[in-house]
Amino acid sequence: MKTVLVVGSGGREHAIVDALSRSSQVGKIYCAPGNAGIAAQAECVPLKDTQVEELLAFAQEKQVDLTVVGPEVSLSAGIADAFRAAGQRIFGPSRAAARIESSKDFAKGLMARHGVPTAAYRTFDAYDEALEYVRGGSFPVVLKYDGLAAGKGVVIPEDFESARAALKDMLLEDKFGKGKVVVEEFMTGPEFSFLCFVDGPTVVPMVLSQDHKRAFDGDKGPNTGGMGAYTPLPFITEEDRQDALEHIMKPVAAALVEEGCPFWGVLYGGLMKTPQGIKVVEFNCRFGDPETEVVLPRLQSDIYDVFCATADGTLDALPPLRWSEEAVLGIVLASKGYPGSYDKGVPIEGLAEAAALPGVRLYHMGTKMQDGKTVTAGGRVLMAVAQAPTLPEANARALQAVAAIRCEGLFHRSDIGHQAL
Ligand code: AMP
Ligand code: GLY
Repeated sequence: MKTVLVVGSGGREHAIVDALSRSSQVGKIYCAPGNAGIAAQAECVPLKDTQVEELLAFAQEKQVDLTVVGPEVSLSAGIADAFRAAGQRIFGPSRAAARIESSKDFAKGLMARHGVPTAAYRTFDAYDEALEYVRGGSFPVVLKYDGLAAGKGVVIPEDFESARAALKDMLLEDKFGKGKVVVEEFMTGPEFSFLCFVDGPTVVPMVLSQDHKRAFDGDKGPNTGGMGAYTPLPFITEEDRQDALEHIMKPVAAALVEEGCPFWGVLYGGLMKTPQGIKVVEFNCRFGDPETEVVLPRLQSDIYDVFCATADGTLDALPPLRWSEEAVLGIVLASKGYPGSYDKGVPIEGLAEAAALPGVRLYHMGTKMQDGKTVTAGGRVLMAVAQAPTLPEANARALQAVAAIRCEGLFHRSDIGHQAL
């Protein structure tokens, strides 16, 4: 039996651990650092996701057969480079390939060089020049900080005054750190997430899903890491999907090979179906969170084989992936105040009742054990994920699971999947 190490501590990693525990080949699963929910399915190891040397030493000592990386911070810290240099099998891209997410400027330049459809843009490092450019353009306009900002580095000002304030934050006051700003054309249309397994040139697509980035119902409120997700997407046709695969995902994988930084892992296309066709909003270099929690429950193939084939560069020899036809919908329970400041350590009741409902999986995003009780320990705390023959049924089950969870400190959206329901 194989031993696997999963790096990370959120709902995404819980879903990865859950998928690995369904593999007939996997015996032992470690998760570093994990959380209170993951602890029921894996042995949690007290190492942070950026402790690259310690994680490598751990994998070597425990003779781990495969390490699967969840968060981008680990990849940007060079975890995949360090493991590969030591001959330790790892699922995740090199630091150079991870720039597709860690640098918006790199991602936009790559798309421009290879003719991949995306919003028109310009990059600035000087406040005055950015301001002049924005003054002459139309509104709304999209301003993106060129670096990792935990999903908070994008603002869409409606007028010049708000744009000035945002540019000041990013370029004069270095709110997210020293960095450039990408100024982008505002696009319209439904957004969707296209996650693909990629090993250099070979691209193996997963089923499509959609995230909900705004905090409140009706897509109102601040941007978050994601408040819920579902799959499949009735408004994206098979033709759209093929178009995105052939004109976006495959060319980008080929471009990364050509530019000397081949990608191994999950290439996540954040795409938009605009009136002018499918265009790229952003790329991520890893599984999406919360998309993974709804996508992986539909995977029927053994995920251990898929991870190894991706890490080993043998995806082209892998049999086609098998997917359940069922729908999966997940609702995030977040701490009141998130994405701003919030309390931690609030006790959560009703977890067992929720998890026992038919078709329901409860993924922990930010929990820990305190005096024998599960308590909140992050902004996003839990995700109630339900699988059913149709989306309306999955939605009803997920809402039932949410209702079973009793906690003073949590809120959730009630309209996940509204574009499809
Ligand atoms: P990003 O971090 O690049 O995914 O941006 C966060 C969110 O901002 C996206 O999910 C979109 O909803 C929105 N957004 C980003 N870029 C654009 C754009 N060019 N046009 C319209 N909306 C955008
Ligand atoms: N769901 C958005 C992300 O993973 O970045």
